[in-house]
Amino acid sequence: MKVGIDLIHFATSDYALGLDTFAEEKGTDVNKYHIGIGQEQMSIAPPDEDIVTLSAKAAAPIINQIDRNDITAVLFATESGVDQSKSAGAFLHGLLKLSNRCRVVEFKHACYAGTAALQMATTMVKANPKETILVIAADIAKYDVDSSGEATQGCGAVAMLVKAEPRILAIEPGSGYYTDDVMDFWRPNKRTTALVDGKYSTKVYLNSLKQAWEHFVEETGRHFEDFDAFCYHIPFSRMTEKAHKTLVKKVGAKLTPETFREQTAPGQIYNRVVGNSYSASLFIGFCSFLDNAIQDLTGKRFGFFSYGSGCVAEFFSGIIQPGYQQHLMTESHRQQIESRQPLDYQQYLAFYHQTDSDVENITFPHNNKGPFRLAGIENHIRRYESDIQPA
Ligand code: CAA
Repeated sequence: MKVGIDLIHFATSDYALGLDTFAEEKGTDVNKYHIGIGQEQMSIAPPDEDIVTLSAKAAAPIINQIDRNDITAVLFATESGVDQSKSAGAFLHGLLKLSNRCRVVEFKHACYAGTAALQMATTMVKANPKETILVIAADIAKYDVDSSGEATQGCGAVAMLVKAEPRILAIEPGSGYYTDDVMDFWRPNKRTTALVDGKYSTKVYLNSLKQAWEHFVEETGRHFEDFDAFCYHIPFSRMTEKAHKTLVKKVGAKLTPETFREQTAPGQIYNRVVGNSYSASLFIGFCSFLDNAIQDLTGKRFGFFSYGSGCVAEFFSGIIQPGYQQHLMTESHRQQIESRQPLDYQQYLAFYHQTDSDVENITFPHNNKGPFRLAGIENHIRRYESDIQPA
């Protein structure tokens, strides 16, 4: 029995800050961003957008294609949790009017948790093929103003329907993984922004890739030549280039620049303009690859490298299924990115400082264009609104 991703759709916010605007404000050469880290824009969440509203926006087009009562579990991966106790998935469950006969849980380990959720969903379906699981990976990447990470912010959510006989990607058994207790990036409780040792984090990322790959080869017997394409966790798109170079060098492959590009470039197009979305980033990269590849990907083997600072990494693989093109939501992805409203630096700062979930009472102005928004917080209770009436 094949198990994997049956449908996939991502959402991002309605606003973006151009790194040209950012460079002008900071008095930096814009090529540091456009070339040096390979980023052009970052999606910015207004105060009435959070991981719950982003994930509802990501999941709604999937839910609309199925019977929502079929969903047996929501596995919600995030490091931007909105509550220390209640799962963000429970808010999502309410907004999407899912069945009460559905389990909901939140997963956390930095940018890795989306992969943990996906692998667990795959295992659950293998154990019981009647399961239909909604996997969510959603994050808002936020660093201190004037810190090295500020240029690598962004936000997004990915929803994936995981079931038997999937229509898009069959996930293959076996993976390689690597964990080490390091402090390259972290966010202590009560901080809304992450702390990062930027240069060190890129070194740990690349070392984790080598270690996870070695384990993957031992576990599966598959080799670099068995792959057609690679999706990496993308904190900024230049990191994909560094990662792929590292892997190519490790395995001693001789690639032409054209093959190198074919194996990775389509997966970077969305992330260049959305920015980092932590746990969602790898899967937005996968959407980008599916939507932007020129050739037919049917039967192609994809390698996925998931990295979460702190750190946990995993390399896994999957095969693109026949007819996958008919199930992509390319138009929605492109339309969301293109219709974002550009912000100037002061507007970005206003959003940045208004977004604070650790308050007892607040009503947020209408900035989020829907269909789901965080209206406010009342006596510490988050109040969400939806324009969509479920069928
Ligand atoms: N033209 C062209 N290139 C330029 C340039 C110019 N005018 N100016 C600088 N550059 C190049 C630099 O040479 C450098 O290239 P290399 O990486 O090849 O050396 C690149 O642009 C970046 O320049 P700096 O190193 O000077 O930039 P920085 O000090 O501002 O730091 C960063 C970059 C460390 C990535 C920083 O943005 C950061 O801390 N980001 C957050 C942490 C992060 O994303 N880490 C990634 C790994 S951890 C992870 O993946 C988990 C996660 O999601 C956070």
